[in-house]
Amino acid sequence: MSISYASMSESELADRAPRGNTRPGRLSDERTVPPSIERPEYMFHDGPEIVTASDVKSPQTVKKIREAGGIAAEALELVGKHVKPGITTDQLDKIGHDYIVSQGAYPSCLGYMGFPKSLCTSVNEIICHGIPDDRPLENGDIVNIDITAYKDGVHGDTCAMFEVGSVDEESRLLIDRTYEAMMRGIKAAKPGRKINIIGRVIEAYARRFRYGVVRDYTGHGVGEAFHSGLIVPHYDSAPLYDDEIELGMVFTIEPMLTLGTIDWVQWDDNWTVATADKSRTAQFEHTIVITENGGEILTLPRNDA
Ligand code: MF3
Ligand code: CO
Ligand code: CO
Repeated sequence: MSISYASMSESELADRAPRGNTRPGRLSDERTVPPSIERPEYMFHDGPEIVTASDVKSPQTVKKIREAGGIAAEALELVGKHVKPGITTDQLDKIGHDYIVSQGAYPSCLGYMGFPKSLCTSVNEIICHGIPDDRPLENGDIVNIDITAYKDGVHGDTCAMFEVGSVDEESRLLIDRTYEAMMRGIKAAKPGRKINIIGRVIEAYARRFRYGVVRDYTGHGVGEAFHSGLIVPHYDSAPLYDDEIELGMVFTIEPMLTLGTIDWVQWDDNWTVATADKSRTAQFEHTIVITENGGEILTLPRNDA
């Protein structure tokens, strides 16, 4: 039978799964990318990217984003197969990095605003932007792997959760429901609606389980830019974020749900974002293009027949 979340206190909710105690580890040397591989423009200057492009893409641009997204998705699948107790997040970073580069693509995170590695690896209570290091994954951990690939002038951005060995029931439920929340957001993204419909359906679903819905990190326009400036909240932001969803728009949907608070703390590395109460958190992400029927996913492995 289902557990009655309604009667639980905030701290009981956060304790549905083990609270985290993830600590920073050591970083390996910087990985290299062959000079023949095209770099995104932010690699040539400090600070944020300088790209101007419409969030509505031509069919030719969508095709290129599907290709970059396919590479990111394949890297994600490959890295996921290696997730097991004892492997370090740095070893996972090498696997993902090498695959992306083998496909003639650039791992967009490497050097983005100074980010030091090719993937984000976010364990347990880490909401997002965890840096791969020498920490070995432990039985019972959950880990988010976030991969973006840049090829032929465009980015494709995707992430997923992976279970390390045998994971407790509440963490597995959190993962399944976070995936379902993302998929509901993707289906709701139809032309003529407002961007804030996406967060409305995601938050309504998450509330059934009294999950926290992170507000300060959002989906985003993606394509020629890694983060275009278009913001896609995962909570009900109405009347704000009322941009109209248009046919051919490309953006990510990437909800982060927590077992407890949505307050967060950032580590001294200036990247890693953890829940303030150390409750576990999960995230999934796809890059989508808007069709009459809702979002069509552009971050799927290319060879899935
Ligand atoms: N891929 C992340 C996103 O979904 C962004 C990571 S930026 C990094 O938007 F610098 F941390 F890699
Ligand atoms: Co993203
Ligand atoms: Co991402």
